[in-house]
Amino acid sequence: MECRIVTIPGDGIGPEIVREACKVLDKVAQVYGHSFRYQEVLMGGCSIDAYGVPLTEEALKAARESDAVLLGAVGGDVGNSRWYDVAPNLRPEAGLLAIRKGLNLFANIRPAYLYRELAEACPLKKEIIGEGFDMVIMRELTGGLYFGERHTEEAGGVLQATDTLTYNENEIRRIAVKAFGIAMKRRKSVISVDKANVLDSSRLWRKVVEEVAKDYPEVKLEHMLVDNCAMQLVMNPGQFDVVLTENMFGDILSDEASMITGSIGMLPSASLNESRFGMYEPSHGSAPDIAGKDLANPIATVLSAAMMLRYSFDLDKEADAIESAVQKVLTEGYRTPDIMSEGCKKVGTIQMGNLIAERI
Ligand code: IPM
Ligand code: MG
Repeated sequence: MECRIVTIPGDGIGPEIVREACKVLDKVAQVYGHSFRYQEVLMGGCSIDAYGVPLTEEALKAARESDAVLLGAVGGDVGNSRWYDVAPNLRPEAGLLAIRKGLNLFANIRPAYLYRELAEACPLKKEIIGEGFDMVIMRELTGGLYFGERHTEEAGGVLQATDTLTYNENEIRRIAVKAFGIAMKRRKSVISVDKANVLDSSRLWRKVVEEVAKDYPEVKLEHMLVDNCAMQLVMNPGQFDVVLTENMFGDILSDEASMITGSIGMLPSASLNESRFGMYEPSHGSAPDIAGKDLANPIATVLSAAMMLRYSFDLDKEADAIESAVQKVLTEGYRTPDIMSEGCKKVGTIQMGNLIAERI
């Protein structure tokens, strides 16, 4: 199979983790007889530095014409970087939002799975971890607060800022359909997370999700308020199979879910549109504090590449090969600093990439 992949290394640790993911993809290509061609484009702070904008038309076009996009991370140290005090549409993160919107990537899939080997790195008590957990967070990605109108103004000497949260029923329906579809291939349970005791958008969310649920009688649907969900994730993570939620709640809950897997450096993600096209990226940020020091964990990006093979290219066997190579490396005791525990072998970003690639 021949695939054209646009890579967007981005800022901070982005370039070094994308490099390792491509190394692993190259090994897959060699072993299974595929050809992956890469085209690298800039996005985020590096694009601002080079072109004055976080995402150029050309970069978006290249991404649109590719078969899939592999992204590292964008942004600097929040509040403390040269990219912070600029107009909202010129910040590094605006590039990420623009590409999500521009490619209509409304469905963000973030699987959070606890590897047995990482139980030591999981901050939860053993009794809470129990048999472990294996959940998928389905986050709506192109609506809600992130894309509502926002402005800041001064009224009578008082500064006031506004962000608006809007969802229409179609936006809710299409993400709900994806969530139920995924639940059908898993343990057939959807927990839809909202704040229906306060927000109108959440009441509509609940109503539409219930309508969609009627088409999936085998799937058990429950609703959970977002504050309760945040608590349940650290109290009983094993109860979750598919978690369906809106953009902002999904952002917050997915960080929480990633941390209980042992490290935020473990969580991959796929952002999909209606077709097979997707953008694949780790759920974590650009970690500027450790950039360029060979300390970053490339596993989330490597696993994102596996998701790309599975969802965009239908290469299940090859995706399995990457996932089991990661599993092997962990079983053999290799750890990047973020998941290090006693008795294990500490390795850097590059060596972790080599170890995974060697096991394909
Ligand atoms: C994520 C990130 C982004 C988001 C930021 C960088 C804009 O936190 O992908 O979760 O909030 O969506
Ligand atoms: Mg986030």
